[in-house]
Amino acid sequence: MNKQLKAVIFDLDGVITDTAEYHFIAWKQLAEELGITFDRAFNEQLKGVSRMESLERILALGSQADRYTMAEKEALAHKKNEHYKQLIARMTPDDLLPGILDLLRELKRQNIKIGLASASKNAFTVIERLQIGAYFDTIVDAAKVKNSKPHPEIFLTAAEQLGVHPSTCIGVEDAQAGVAAIKAANMFAIGVGDKEALKEADYIVETTADLTYDAIVRAFYRE
Ligand code: BG6
Ligand code: MG
Repeated sequence: MNKQLKAVIFDLDGVITDTAEYHFIAWKQLAEELGITFDRAFNEQLKGVSRMESLERILALGSQADRYTMAEKEALAHKKNEHYKQLIARMTPDDLLPGILDLLRELKRQNIKIGLASASKNAFTVIERLQIGAYFDTIVDAAKVKNSKPHPEIFLTAAEQLGVHPSTCIGVEDAQAGVAAIKAANMFAIGVGDKEALKEADYIVETTADLTYDAIVRAFYRE
């Protein structure tokens, strides 16, 4: 058996910290101002998706896709982002999700490379607020890739920068689009969250507390 785990590539929002909830709060408020309401089930479709694409999906839900000019849409996306930035400005290292710090430490101890693959343009700010930048051997954010998840580009770029083959990587995601991106990159996909929403993943945990080094290694080698 020559299968070998060399790297773990993490999504940020909803995996390392609960910023998925902040994105939800900020989008929900903007949508309500536009007379559009959406629930958590619809929100699953926004996870992992770029800022502009998220806005387009919300407008389409409210049958308002053609109501705004491009400049107006940019202003709406900007408004959501200003709200989101206010929410993340209060974050501290205490906002790391359960088990994440232990997992990062253990991966380092075991000489497994660590990457970040985030669709967010705010990724560096969040990582700074959490004070975990030193754990990452590479950070690939929205500014560095052309194609959004579910396209595999962001995960493939991270693997390339880490100097490892995709088949030796685990990708960790809370989004449907993210799990699809990991699978398209030919990596082992771990989903964090709802079993039904993330059913394409190779291994699913309900919360990050179950994301222990032993559990993910066991799952990887079992395949
Ligand atoms: C992803 C989130 O990580 O980043 C999405 O899951 C978000 O909800 C996307 O829309 C883009 O983030 P930002 O910070 O650039 O608006
Ligand atoms: Mg996410």
